[in-house]
Amino acid sequence: MSEEEQNGQGSGVETYNPPEDFAKNANIQDPEIWQKANEDREGFWESWAEELHWFQKWDQVCNWDPPFVQWFVGGKTNPAYNCLDYQIEQGRGDKTALLWIGDEEGDRQTYTYNELLAEVNKCANMLKSFGIEKGSTVSIYLPMIPELPIAMLACSRIGAIHSVVFSAFQPAQLAERINDVEAPVLITADESPRGGKKTPLKEYSEAALEDAPSVQNVIVVRRTGEDVPWDDDRDHYWDELMDQQSDECPAEELDAEDPWFVLYSSGSTGKPKGIQHNVGGLQVQLKATFMWVCDHKEDDIWWCTADIGWITGHSYLVYAPLLCGGTTLQFEGTPTYPDNDRWFQIIENEGVTGLYAAPTAIRAFQQAGADETIRDHDLSSLRILGSVGEPINPDAWRWYYENIGQERCAIVDTWWQTETGAIMSSNLPGINEMVPGSTTYPFPGIEFGLYDSEEQQFLECPASGELIIPKPWPSQLRTLWQDPDRYKDEYFSDVDEQTYYVEDGATCDETGAYTITGRIDDVLNVSGHRLSTVEIENALQGTEGVAEAAVIGRSHDTKGEEPVGFVIIQEGYEWSEDMEQDLIDHVAEEAGSISKPARVFAVDDLPKTNSGKIMRRILENISEGEELGDTSTLADPSIAETIQEQTQQQMQ
Ligand code: PRX
Repeated sequence: MSEEEQNGQGSGVETYNPPEDFAKNANIQDPEIWQKANEDREGFWESWAEELHWFQKWDQVCNWDPPFVQWFVGGKTNPAYNCLDYQIEQGRGDKTALLWIGDEEGDRQTYTYNELLAEVNKCANMLKSFGIEKGSTVSIYLPMIPELPIAMLACSRIGAIHSVVFSAFQPAQLAERINDVEAPVLITADESPRGGKKTPLKEYSEAALEDAPSVQNVIVVRRTGEDVPWDDDRDHYWDELMDQQSDECPAEELDAEDPWFVLYSSGSTGKPKGIQHNVGGLQVQLKATFMWVCDHKEDDIWWCTADIGWITGHSYLVYAPLLCGGTTLQFEGTPTYPDNDRWFQIIENEGVTGLYAAPTAIRAFQQAGADETIRDHDLSSLRILGSVGEPINPDAWRWYYENIGQERCAIVDTWWQTETGAIMSSNLPGINEMVPGSTTYPFPGIEFGLYDSEEQQFLECPASGELIIPKPWPSQLRTLWQDPDRYKDEYFSDVDEQTYYVEDGATCDETGAYTITGRIDDVLNVSGHRLSTVEIENALQGTEGVAEAAVIGRSHDTKGEEPVGFVIIQEGYEWSEDMEQDLIDHVAEEAGSISKPARVFAVDDLPKTNSGKIMRRILENISEGEELGDTSTLADPSIAETIQEQTQQQMQ
């Protein structure tokens, strides 16, 4: 049999067998595991909970009072204890826990489990000295430096709720997030060096704090040592305070349902959603998925390339690897600085065994012809590759498999969300065939379904529809920060009060394997970053001369999607290339450069229904150069053609 046939490429669906060696040694090899888990879902999750340390065991595994859920009710635990002390108790004190690689070549630092625990304890004591205690909130706005996981673990240790704000966000975005959690302490750095450029985080913080009155103390990490604006009464250098702290600090015995952290994510309105995860269930699902999907082994060097400012970094750079006693690599820089072989150099130098990256990075390498560059590096340490954040197109999948994986690594395509906290669906790498572009099956103990909201009916596989999750899962978000009504409204109202509505389209085949096709709400996925069209529209509307704005995603070869704006300009203003550039720059200032529209088009009107809702689908068709499609539900169907003509003229 030829390799192609063996790999299922002749059968319509392209499939690849798990690498033989990998399958033989995989942590999970039992093909009955889905059935076994589904027969006793609570027992299944309970057996994973038993792998962690609990100060006190739970009384009840799951308490489902739709749409609110609790897991391991009555149990007492602590994530930092599980990530550090519990690992040290198992003999990992001198093992490297955190391996940090800086932006400049040669910048490298390691922390053993013992060393990391000492730093975390000092940081916890430093936070306590500012009155931070169980239930307090702490905002963290740091570059990708070791102090970021240290601060997160320190908060976890004392039961303070961390809210990490992505360091590429702008002052207004930082202020909004600080205000929502009313944090009394902000941890930031002087500057953030990345790709050879520096972002002035302290200066940005200063601007944000003008509108964020809750912050009484700012702790500043000296990353570059540059002089920064300073307020003696409020600002403190991290190193000066840390030097004074004891390296002992007991871990707080937290209730399984105490909040762990809040992380903001874009929704279909302009106001970001404060997604709240609690300490019990998320730890359990992180442990389970890291062992079975990421197939963690004691000697692994795991590299999750995501920024910790997003959920992937929280869950699979910081917490999951440490909960499993692993070595996690944190990289501050970019794939192309100083040269475009930086990633491959790191893999080779550090002997990375697992790489977890977004399809956008893979596509960028593919386009840059990196297969040449790769040949100069020894990537033989790699054994597992992961994909996360957006659908991976089969072509990029194959490139990943052939060039980075050199046809001997397993690839796991993992679907999940900020809201789900942990991986929900992926092929299990020792069992399932790999299908480029498909995340295949829900993780054991998780159930998926499809729904058709037009017909208001549940669909049976094989089918194509809207993804739903009919039963609660341990790492489920518990609520939106201090807004249970919005939580219910956003996730448990489209179908019924018990069914989590994902906002992704999906198909499933007769075996129950799922392929996720992408968002069906007004959320864009740009280079794996989740952005709200409304937030970008608000930024456009806030610019002088703009009367109204609509933003859509246009497909892009490497980024997946890129924002494109349509604006109606006010009378008295003249549309010009300069004005378009001003609008683009303004969005970058307000919402960060990833939100920057590729183009903005001036049009006479926007395509609206009778009720005033903008039909973005029509704008999407126009920007892709496709047929307009059905315009009959527009209040004025003729406007679609006018917009099309005006857009085409400006495209030339
Ligand atoms: O549309 C899905 C897409 O990313 C969305 C979640 O974005 P976020 O909360 O930022 O979390 C990203 C990292 C977990 C989902 O609703 N998505 C994520 N992973 C995949 C994916 N789409 C297809 N395949 C995936 N593997």
